Amino acid sequence: MKLIVAVDENWGIGNKGGLLAHLPGDLKYFKEKTSGKVVIMGQNTLISFPKSKPLPNRTNIVLSNDPSFSVEGAIVVRSLDEARKVASEYNTDDVFVIGGASVYRQMLDDCDTAYITKVHKSFEADVFFPNLDENEKWTLSNVGESGEDNGITYTFTTYTKIR
Ligand SMILES: NC(=O)c1ccc[n+]([C@@H]2O[C@H](COP(=O)([O-])OP(=O)(O)OC[C@H]3O[C@@H](n4cnc5c(N)ncnc54)[C@H](OP(=O)(O)O)[C@@H]3O)[C@@H](O)[C@H]2O)c1
Repeated sequence: MKLIVAVDENWGIGNKGGLLAHLPGDLKYFKEKTSGKVVIMGQNTLISFPKSKPLPNRTNIVLSNDPSFSVEGAIVVRSLDEARKVASEYNTDDVFVIGGASVYRQMLDDCDTAYITKVHKSFEADVFFPNLDENEKWTLSNVGESGEDNGITYTFTTYTKIR
């Protein structure tokens, strides 16, 4: 399994239910990486999408504890084990954990690759991703291209789990 996330200089990832910045170049990168694949997310992340709808061209798995919650076009699961069971029906390299904070935290150990967009700015944030530079299980394996949107620069990086 892989994960994909955009973090600011403090590893902040969101504020008040939304993203920290509108970065079309990063959204394009996210789309390229995840299109045709399987994405796992928490209910709050689904709700943060336009019209709270699942992402098109992807198999959407949504974690929720709410027994009455259902959403057209997504597979709703009630536990991590159920999410893992559904995900195991697919090639593990095609499964992406896409947030938010609570799901990244719970599923970090399920992942072997982390696509992390480093946004070179600090924002007011209320949800964070674990700092992988301070995690001995992970190493920065690639620093890719950089981009700029709305005066904000960012760099695509990859972290890999140390075997
Ligand atoms: N920067 C990025 O790349 C990025 C990516 C994604 C999201 N985000 C941001 O992250 C924030 C959302 O993160 P979040 O931590 O608040 O929410 P979240 O992880 O998206 O969703 C949390 C909800 O998912 C359900 N859930 C989580 N784990 C579960 C489990 N093991 N079993 C059953 N249900 C489970 C729970 O629903 P119940 O309420 O039913 O218990 C929980 O309230 C937003 O600000 C969003 O914009 C940023």
